[in-house]
Amino acid sequence: MLDPALIADLRAARRIVVFTGAGMSAESGIPTFRERLTGLWAQVDPMEIATPWAFRADPQRVWDWHVHLAEAVRAARPNAGHEAIAALEQAGLDVTVITQNVDALHHRAGSRAVVELHGNLLRLKSFVDEEAAFAAASPTICRACDGYAVWESCDPYADRSDLAAIELRAGAVPRCPGCGALLRPDVVWFGEPLAVEAIEAAWNAVDRCDVLFAVGASLEVEPAASLPWRALARGARVIEVNPSPTELVGQCHAGIRGGAAEVLPELFGIIWPSR
Ligand code: APR
Repeated sequence: MLDPALIADLRAARRIVVFTGAGMSAESGIPTFRERLTGLWAQVDPMEIATPWAFRADPQRVWDWHVHLAEAVRAARPNAGHEAIAALEQAGLDVTVITQNVDALHHRAGSRAVVELHGNLLRLKSFVDEEAAFAAASPTICRACDGYAVWESCDPYADRSDLAAIELRAGAVPRCPGCGALLRPDVVWFGEPLAVEAIEAAWNAVDRCDVLFAVGASLEVEPAASLPWRALARGARVIEVNPSPTELVGQCHAGIRGGAAEVLPELFGIIWPSR
């Protein structure tokens, strides 16, 4: 599978980054986004369902689509690939997972050093409709959801536990118990910036790593897509695991054609046989 000299380099790596995309969770039964027939974006235009303006135009439709995906996420279990990554960290290796996925399967597999670049589908936050908020009197920041309270008075008795108790489930779009703002999934929609602390943590991990495994990512969405090239530019070893070649082909140190759940346990067993 790999050149012995490359294996020796990988075994000598002190800091490891595993960068994952939707393909990482494909074998857990969660659909990817761009696969021609089965991808989520083959069924619906993301601009109609995964943008702030789509939510403002039809909150219920956007909420219902995310509920459908959340049901697949709740039913999913970490696969052997997630578990192989978590096992490296548990064996004492310095492993940072940088994931574009919002399914929390790396956490559920036992990984602890996880950067969720695109948020977490099962966590909610206030839909900060700044136009509405600032159209009213000067908005106050709601203590429960950190959103802009649309009106002056925000329920002083609501707190974050009230918010945490509200789940992404079928039904009417819920509101913040403190300020009444609509709630939405805490994921990064098209047209939204990533959380500064998330992208900075990712850049920091990539800038320190000796090897980056790019697993199940089509590398079509920035700024995540640039991370493997950022690692290459620094001289780190970059290994891709994906049934289909991406733009990394010919530039990474090895491109392994296969599924994450099948390849990762075998690959890590070859590189770190004693772990
Ligand atoms: N194992 C590994 N890779 C796989 C597997 C598998 N079993 N099955 C499919 N793949 C690969 C596909 O070949 C493809 O390259 O996973 C990749 C999935 O690509 P996308 O569907 O584009 O998902 P992703 O790269 O995560 O998309 C990035 O785009 O829509 C936004 O926010 C969304 O986080 C997402 C971002």
